[in-house]
Amino acid sequence: MKKTSKNFFIETWGCQMNEEDSEKLSGMLRKTGYKRTTVKEFADLIIFNTCCVRENAELKVYGNLGALKKQKEKNPDLIIAVCGCMMQQEGMAEAIVKKFPFVDIVFGTHNAYKFLEYLNRVKQEGKSVVEVQDKEDGIVEGLPIDRESDVKAFVTIMYGCNNFCTYCIVPYVRGRERSRKLEDIKKEIEDLIAKGYKEITLLGQNVNSYGKDLDPKITFAELLREIDKIEGLERVKFMTSHPKDLTQDVIDAIAECKTLCEYIHLPVQSGSTRLLKKMNRSYTKEQYLDLVQRIRKAIPNVAISTDIIVGFPGETDEDFEETLSLAREVQYDSAFTFIYSRRKGTPADEMEDQIDDAVKHDRFNRLVEVINGSAAKKNKEYEGRIEEVLIEGLSKNDETKLMGRTRTGKLVNFAGDGSNIGKLVNVKITKANSFSLIGEQV
Ligand code: SAH
Ligand code: SF4
Ligand code: F3S
Repeated sequence: MKKTSKNFFIETWGCQMNEEDSEKLSGMLRKTGYKRTTVKEFADLIIFNTCCVRENAELKVYGNLGALKKQKEKNPDLIIAVCGCMMQQEGMAEAIVKKFPFVDIVFGTHNAYKFLEYLNRVKQEGKSVVEVQDKEDGIVEGLPIDRESDVKAFVTIMYGCNNFCTYCIVPYVRGRERSRKLEDIKKEIEDLIAKGYKEITLLGQNVNSYGKDLDPKITFAELLREIDKIEGLERVKFMTSHPKDLTQDVIDAIAECKTLCEYIHLPVQSGSTRLLKKMNRSYTKEQYLDLVQRIRKAIPNVAISTDIIVGFPGETDEDFEETLSLAREVQYDSAFTFIYSRRKGTPADEMEDQIDDAVKHDRFNRLVEVINGSAAKKNKEYEGRIEEVLIEGLSKNDETKLMGRTRTGKLVNFAGDGSNIGKLVNVKITKANSFSLIGEQV
């Protein structure tokens, strides 16, 4: 029997920015009749959306590409595309086609919206297409988007980053900050509500500088208050906040607006003021702790999560102790902990006092212990409470149970009916595990 529709497989590494880009690539492909498959071997088109924030993200891409060689030999019609942040690095696109000559399409983050054009070119001309743009184009609105969830959605409010933290490659691969217009954001959210979505997460590398590039200017707090007015919206979250830009008016907006959830992701990176300066983070340990205190005062039961890097060049035992003491003081609900990874082209890569691997690993383990301790303690506080839970789907490990999240982002598993997916229900928390909660619907 002749196969009538084509299948695509997409794998995404990295942050929500890449996930959202992949949802757009999927949206474009579906519009042209492609169907998504989760089995690589069944695919006529394979896309790898890459990340380069740390070295291990890159190594995964190489491994996965190498493994496709055999599949391409068996099926020469298979089209392989590689895109995303890693392709924006100087010389990377050329290196990829040299190392993996069977790759058909290479493109970057700035021209992802032209993907269908590249796909057609490959099909018509039979030659590979390698196109990466140094500079970002203006924001392209109206691309179709095929979202992973029917319950919660990411809405990007701004692209790029201007902060140039000295360890970080993101500003080089995602370009300068540019904000979407308020009307475009509102319209996207209204459309999502009409489709039944309950939770929106506003995305940007530094959402607190939203609107500075718009005319007329609008602040992030004003945007939040505008969004809160949208009829039918239940929950709004956002990430990421840069501590230097998280202003009191944003804290007040969260405290006062009904839809804004009691959850803040507030990357600290280090607890040492000396290192924060070397990282170009523009705040001190004391300023960060003061900010956390103001947040806790204004927003009862708020959950705070963070990102922390260990082993940044020049990190002494004393610097690391400052990080541990900060983590103990803040009592994070959760944290993404990272071992510093050298990135070519960033100032920190040029710093001479790089830290020994064994020291980095030892510090990493000690930090994780502190974080796990506070995360378990925070979860324990939920025992006996009744929480509003948005049901996202069936539990991963036990399909007879439901899985959802509290307004503070805690994962809750409980017995219930699959037809309730997408609904908000009250759940009594009966038991806290280290990384999730167990409850009963009331
Ligand atoms: N814009 C966000 C997220 C950036 S990337 C922010 O500013 O928080 C996500 C996290 O990766 C960062 O917060 C940082 O903790 C980590 N990261 C970035 N570059 C890194 C590097 N070179 N080595 C290790 N971790 C890094
Ligand atoms: Fe990277 Fe810093 Fe920008 Fe975050 S704020 S993306 S860590 S440069
Ligand atoms: Fe990675 Fe790009 Fe995000 S480098 S962390 S996918 S912005």
